[in-house]
Amino acid sequence: MTHLTIAMAKGRTADKALAFFEKAGIRFSEYHDKSRKLVIYDDENKVKLIFVKAVDVPTYVEKGAADIGIVGKDTIMEDPVDVYELLDLGIGKCQLVVAGFPDKQFPSSALLTVVSKYPAVTKAYFDSKGIRIETIKLNGSIELAPLIGMADVIVDIVESGKTLKENGLVVLETIADVSARLIVNKASYATRTSQIQQVISDLKAALE
Ligand code: PRP
Repeated sequence: MTHLTIAMAKGRTADKALAFFEKAGIRFSEYHDKSRKLVIYDDENKVKLIFVKAVDVPTYVEKGAADIGIVGKDTIMEDPVDVYELLDLGIGKCQLVVAGFPDKQFPSSALLTVVSKYPAVTKAYFDSKGIRIETIKLNGSIELAPLIGMADVIVDIVESGKTLKENGLVVLETIADVSARLIVNKASYATRTSQIQQVISDLKAALE
């Protein structure tokens, strides 16, 4: 039996996800938060973990480079791929929101400028409300945009709310609740069903 490949990003969610895996009996003894290793193994359970960029997890899974991926719902919403989403791990909880200055009114005729790491989600959300926008994609420090006059509002994730608060911004509207999801390659699920189901049922048991 070859190793099942799981893709996830390093960082906060990985630490929580690996604690979870450990509870489910899947242990990557080589893992520690300062390690630079990109591939680690649990030979007993025949599972291999690869560390990739969060935004790339859906692609690795869709293309079959990984059988399973652990990734935030925000990433899946922004880049929908043809995979199965089988489990909500309930970690990495945050919200995808529209944020801006407290007194912000959406202009009814003028074009609203929205800065976000999530241009597709942003467009779909404002389209659904019939609000015309110009979207500017940036890759980080999104909260800066309204402060320097680059955006009327932003679409971003909020976890503790600290970044918004310290920059004088507030949540104006909530788009979606976000948490880490387990996604599975469709062909892998068909050919390695029992191995994948075993991992999922072990994780489910650890969730309870
Ligand atoms: C994320 C997000 C917000 C912040 C929210 O940024 O884009 O900026 O976290 O967290 P909080 O509500 O707990 O303050 P990240 O830390 O990924 O950094 P980035 O600005 O480089 O995207």
